[in-house]
Amino acid sequence: MLDIAFVLIVITALLVVVGLCQPLAAYLKLPPPVLLGVVGVSLGGFPAIMSHVGGPTQTDVFADIFTELPVSSGIFIYVFLPLLVFEAGIATDVRRMLEDAAPILLLAVVATLITTAMIGLALWPLSGVPLVICLLLGAVVATTDPAAIIAIFRDIGAPARLTRLVEGEALLNDAAAIALFAVLLGMIVSAREPDMGIGLSEFFVSFVGGGVLGMLAGRGLLWLIPWARDDRLAEATLTLALAYGVFIAAERLFHVSGIVAVLGAGLAISALGRSRIAPYNWSFLTDLWDQIAFWARSLIFVLASILVPRLLGDVGSHEVFLLAMLIVAAFAARILVLFGLMPPLEFFRLTQPISSAYKLAITWGGLRGALTLVLALAATENTALGPEVQRFIAALATGFVMFTLFVNGTTLRLVIALLGLTRLSPRNQVLRDRVLALAYAEVSDSVRHVAQYHALPQTAVEHVIEPYQAWIAAADARDDAERLPERDRLAIALVALANQERVLVLETRTGQIAAPATVQVLLGIADTLVEGARAEGRLGYRRAAETALSFPVAFRVAYFLYRYFGVQGYLAERLADRVELLLMMRLLVDRLLGFNDERLTAVFGERLAELTREIVEHRREDVSGAFDALRRQYPDYVAALEVRFLRQSALRQEMERYQALFEEGLIPQELYDDLKRGILGTRAAEPRPRFEIGLDTHRLIERLDILSGLNRGQLQRVAKLLRPRFTVPNERILRRGDRGDAVFFIASGAVEVRLPAQRIRLGSGEFFGEMALLSGRPRQADVVALTYCRLLVLRKADFERFLAANPDARTLINQIAQARLSMNQGDRDRTPEVATL
Ligand code: CMP
Repeated sequence: MLDIAFVLIVITALLVVVGLCQPLAAYLKLPPPVLLGVVGVSLGGFPAIMSHVGGPTQTDVFADIFTELPVSSGIFIYVFLPLLVFEAGIATDVRRMLEDAAPILLLAVVATLITTAMIGLALWPLSGVPLVICLLLGAVVATTDPAAIIAIFRDIGAPARLTRLVEGEALLNDAAAIALFAVLLGMIVSAREPDMGIGLSEFFVSFVGGGVLGMLAGRGLLWLIPWARDDRLAEATLTLALAYGVFIAAERLFHVSGIVAVLGAGLAISALGRSRIAPYNWSFLTDLWDQIAFWARSLIFVLASILVPRLLGDVGSHEVFLLAMLIVAAFAARILVLFGLMPPLEFFRLTQPISSAYKLAITWGGLRGALTLVLALAATENTALGPEVQRFIAALATGFVMFTLFVNGTTLRLVIALLGLTRLSPRNQVLRDRVLALAYAEVSDSVRHVAQYHALPQTAVEHVIEPYQAWIAAADARDDAERLPERDRLAIALVALANQERVLVLETRTGQIAAPATVQVLLGIADTLVEGARAEGRLGYRRAAETALSFPVAFRVAYFLYRYFGVQGYLAERLADRVELLLMMRLLVDRLLGFNDERLTAVFGERLAELTREIVEHRREDVSGAFDALRRQYPDYVAALEVRFLRQSALRQEMERYQALFEEGLIPQELYDDLKRGILGTRAAEPRPRFEIGLDTHRLIERLDILSGLNRGQLQRVAKLLRPRFTVPNERILRRGDRGDAVFFIASGAVEVRLPAQRIRLGSGEFFGEMALLSGRPRQADVVALTYCRLLVLRKADFERFLAANPDARTLINQIAQARLSMNQGDRDRTPEVATL
């Protein structure tokens, strides 16, 4: 029985080591796991070294201590693994990842299968171990730890999308490898004849089932969140319960992959939680998880690497040979995936093209980490495997981890430099110079400001801002020497502009003026603008700006649900989102104009600033256009939202004032608490007004002049026949050449009739689609919605009934149809073809 004090001392020592390794690794510019690995291995190897140099020979003191700790692989798997994976899920920006979902999923799942297969097949003939075992080893080492390569990619300013691809791939790849590991282990334990087909289908069921279960559980938890009443401690606790709960439920109850379920739950919380958990609580939650995962990862590392010398202690030359084969096979698999699988994806434009240099960097950066170690430990403690097999897997997997850490990890920066990825292109150099110049110009200005405010002497100002000015002058000189073509300079100015947009969005977030979900979308937009301007200059910026205004996937889904299943509430929510987004976007673009005139002119010169101004103005027109389209149809809602926005900004101000007063001791604590509670309790939580699409037939009918002649009874009857329909701008309502089956009355909005020779605009109160019904001929023209419209639809049989019952309306409609027909036929004198019903 271990003394509890002893266990605590060991854990304390480990925590000290872990805590010190982190800053040391940063100082040495090494990935932290490398250092932890070194420490662990040295601790484990200490007695051997001592005996080597003739010191007092003892048994493996440290290894003994740690093997005696009550930490079995069961603990690793059940305690640490869900933590690690859940955190990875919660830290992912799901919305951004969804943009690249196809390549990420494909790469992750296919890459895991390929890696496992290649390693299994390479070792099988050489190792004298059954194929399933070799495949199991393949699955153990198929997980990659992207932290190191991503840190470097961030440093060297690699394209953001590439970083996301690597991140997303590693995330799913872990889940896939663990699910595969479980399936293979199941096969071995049950001593079934291994069967590829069954194995693969089990794998997919386990993977997909786990994913769905996890997402449902994550969603379910969000329903519980309001019960926590904004208490961040309670919220965080619930997420911790979710991670473990869903893991065990998946494994024991549903028999699907627990790890994939944990990941699914983490991703669901990340995608939906931001809008349901208050911003401060959200950042507390992610920070907390960051910390938890750090402890889990580091402890796994040190504990596992302490065991390494013992595991590798009695390896013979044969094992070394096998390890070499494993290394070759693993890297070959990675190369195959990147150079073989990526090109088709690039061809179908599913992903941005990735240069060979980056592919090589990603290959070399495929470090293996804590997950591989945990899986290897799990294998060593599974008694069904037999001691020989346990040793085989443990020795090779840990050997491989150590190889990637000590060889790849330590040389990664060097390799990336050799691949030429660290050199800034002249364009990037100018970009960096300009962006810094912007920042320094701002600093100088604010120094002047402060000096003026406090009436400090001019000489002091000069003294302080001199270095900044000198730097700007030097950058200007460099820039002149570089003489980039104007196109490139414009691209750089646009990147600076998009960066500023990002800054402004972050300010909005701190001010909590916009809903977190809106801020998230705005940040995504700013990112795509930066990326667009970086990659394709003006064209890329424009394109990104246009995409920002197009209807997002969620909106399209909502519209589909409305159109084909009649679900209105979800669409109304998305419309409300859109009003909020456009409102914020308009404010941002306005502020960008100010930034353009004030700063860009100073740093990039008049001419260029003139061009960027034009681009931003163009954007403002587009945004205002989209906003006004909504405002015209829903003026009350937009007005209500604007008021709410102003009120929220006022509350922020109020809050800041109270805080300042309190901090200066001008109001006592109780009063401050009271005032704060007043704001936080009721007024700040002002819910967004409900969006009403306004599809009540009776209300809409009132807007139709053509029916104004009908008496109450007639109106009642017509109302029963009419079906409301909502359309979005640019939606095609009728297609030329189709058979006519209904006529449409415009209750609000405008449409355009697109005839071969001309376009005609129809507005509120008018109708269309009657000609095909009256003449029995196909539709004469396309009809496209110009705005959000509310239409009333009358089906063919009902239309005929309506005409029969309302002679006045019939005459009117016939007249209009006749006039339209003769207009379309021009002055060619033809016999009228519209039959009068
Ligand atoms: P239909 O032919 O059923 O489908 C296209 C519709 O466009 C047509 O009915 C009319 O309602 C409308 N349309 C066609 N020509 C004109 C026109 N000259 N002016 C206004 N509307 C028209």
